[in-house]
Amino acid sequence: MGVMLPQDFSKLEIIGEGKTKIVRRMDNPELVLLEFKDAITALDGEKKDTITGKGHINARISGFLFEFLSKEGVPTHYVSFIEPKYMVVKRLKMLPVEVVCRNIAAGSFAKRYPVEAGSRLKHPVVEYYLKDDLRHDPMMNEDHMVVLGILSSIEEVNEIKRLTLTVNKALSKFLDDKGITLVDFKLEFGRDRNGRIYVGDEINGDSMRLWDKRTGRILDKDVYRQGKNLSEVLETYRECYRRIIGEEPRV
Ligand code: TMP
Ligand code: ASP
Repeated sequence: MGVMLPQDFSKLEIIGEGKTKIVRRMDNPELVLLEFKDAITALDGEKKDTITGKGHINARISGFLFEFLSKEGVPTHYVSFIEPKYMVVKRLKMLPVEVVCRNIAAGSFAKRYPVEAGSRLKHPVVEYYLKDDLRHDPMMNEDHMVVLGILSSIEEVNEIKRLTLTVNKALSKFLDDKGITLVDFKLEFGRDRNGRIYVGDEINGDSMRLWDKRTGRILDKDVYRQGKNLSEVLETYRECYRRIIGEEPRV
């Protein structure tokens, strides 16, 4: 991309767009540019707002954590972060599945099952959800994913599960050292041209539940899901940035 400045990125062709990110074509066909929007959504997109600066914060946190995971040996799509809200990533064909990993009972797990919300699980639980807003992302098991053709074999399912647990171990330790409990998180995976599987998408306060180890304070999107006002939501994202990056956010 050479000397292209961020203000020129808007000229790059859009090849995909979701609720919170835009995917743009780059000269190198093996790469794409992810732009993190200031949009925030919940309830499968029914609740939607704009928080100026959120795109920057989430792009930066994602870049930071992907870089960490790559150093830990996890195959990820991450190539580089570009200020203020862009990530250059490997172009992948994304699998329509959200892989959730839980250490503590919270969210839909605490609603669905007879467990005490906030209690630590005996061991991490990995769950799979079909990415399909109209069907409200139904949960799937290993067989579903193979039968629906999302993955080619149980071996591939196991590879994704193993990668998810590796990410959980590395991220839990990293965040614990910063005084944060990794309650649960969601990963998305994709394949490159050779069929190799990588962790894609994003990792930040939209895709993780993070609690302050000492006070239990929520440091993620749950404050928005709970209906807190937008200035409180922004302050939560800023605090998440401070704690993970170790710098004062500039928004
Ligand atoms: P859940 O408890 O609502 O099932 O969420 C589990 C984790 O997955 C939590 O860290 C938030 C994340 N997540 C997403 O990133 N996207 C989603 O659409 C959902 C439902 C959850
Ligand atoms: N339903 C999801 C959530 O509450 C995500 C979304 O709709 O954007 O996190």
